[in-house]
Amino acid sequence: MKRFVRVVLVVAALAMVLTMVFACGGETGSPAGSGGSDGAGSTGSAGGSGNDGGSAGSGGSDSAAVPSSSGSAGSKDDQASGGKADAEDSKPDVGFTVESGVLIMATNAEFPPYEFWEGGKIVGIDAEIAGAIAEKLGLTLRIDDIDFDAIIPAVTAGRADMGMAGMTVTEERMENVDFSDSYAMGVQVIIVPNDSPIASVDDLFDENASFDIGVQEATTGDLYTTWDLEDEGLATIFRYKRGADAVQALIAGRVDCVVIDNEPAKAFVAMNTGLKILETEFAVEDYAIAFGKGNTALRYAVNGALVELIAEGTVGRIIDKYIGAD
Ligand code: ARG
Repeated sequence: MKRFVRVVLVVAALAMVLTMVFACGGETGSPAGSGGSDGAGSTGSAGGSGNDGGSAGSGGSDSAAVPSSSGSAGSKDDQASGGKADAEDSKPDVGFTVESGVLIMATNAEFPPYEFWEGGKIVGIDAEIAGAIAEKLGLTLRIDDIDFDAIIPAVTAGRADMGMAGMTVTEERMENVDFSDSYAMGVQVIIVPNDSPIASVDDLFDENASFDIGVQEATTGDLYTTWDLEDEGLATIFRYKRGADAVQALIAGRVDCVVIDNEPAKAFVAMNTGLKILETEFAVEDYAIAFGKGNTALRYAVNGALVELIAEGTVGRIIDKYIGAD
C-alpha cells in the first residue's frame, strides 16, 4: 500500500515540476516534456507523469520556481531568464556554472546502462544525454564519478552543476534539490538466485519474513526496503557502495535478494550465472536531473535543452542504443 502512495507522490511531485517549468520556462516547453516515454518504452508507460497536472499543489520546491522571490544570489539570473523570451536567437543564458564554460555532472558510474566505465571513459545513457545537452548550450561536459550518496551534497555545495545518475525523483530529495523533467522511468526489481524461495515481492512482506536484502547505499532501493521492511521488523538491509557489490554478496550467499533498478539489474544478471529477476516490482519511479536550489537559470537552460532533445527523438535514440542492445 505504502509503495503505491509513494509512487503517486513522486508522480504528483514531478507533475508539479513540469507545470512550473512550463509556466516559467516558456519558450522551451513543448508538450513533449513528459516524454520520458520516447525511450523508456521498455520499462512501461512513462508518458503519464505530465498529465496528472495541477492537482499536485502541495510539494516543497515552490520557492525555487518563483525567481523574483528567491534570495539575492538568484537575482542576476532571474533577470536574465526573465529577458529570455524576447531574445530567442541570442546565446542561451545558462546562468552560472561552477566553472565558466563547463557543465559539471556528478554521477556514480557503477550503474549500467546509464553510466559505467568503458575503455577508460564514462559512457551510457546519462553520459550521452548530458553530452547532447552541453552541446546545445555551448558548454563542455565534465563528468565526476563519486559515491551515489555524495551526488546531492556535491550539487548543493556547489562542487557540481547537476547530478545525473539514473536518479529517482523523490519528495525527500526535493527538499534539497530541484529536478528537471523526467527523461526515463525506472523500476525497482528484485534479483534472486534461480532456486530462491522468494517468488514475488509479497514474500518479502509476509508477516514472518526475515530476509537479508542487499542494496546500493542511499538509493531508493535502500530507502524503500529500509522503510517498508527493515523498520517493520521484516528484513535486514545490507548496504553496499556499488550495486555490483550487492550482486556479488547475493552470489556468495550473504544476502537472499537484491533490490535495485531494472536496467542495471538486467546488466548484472547477464554478467553472472544462476540469477534471475522476479516479475513483480517493488516500485516504479521517474529519473530526472538534480540541481542546487537557487540556480534556476541553469536548471531552465538544461531542462529546455533536455525537452528539445526528447522532442527531437535524440533521447529516445540514446536510450534505445543502450537498452535495445541487450
Ligand atoms: N534510481 C535509484 C535512485 O535514485 C538508483 C540510482 C543509482 N544510480 C547510480 N548511478 N548508481 O536512488
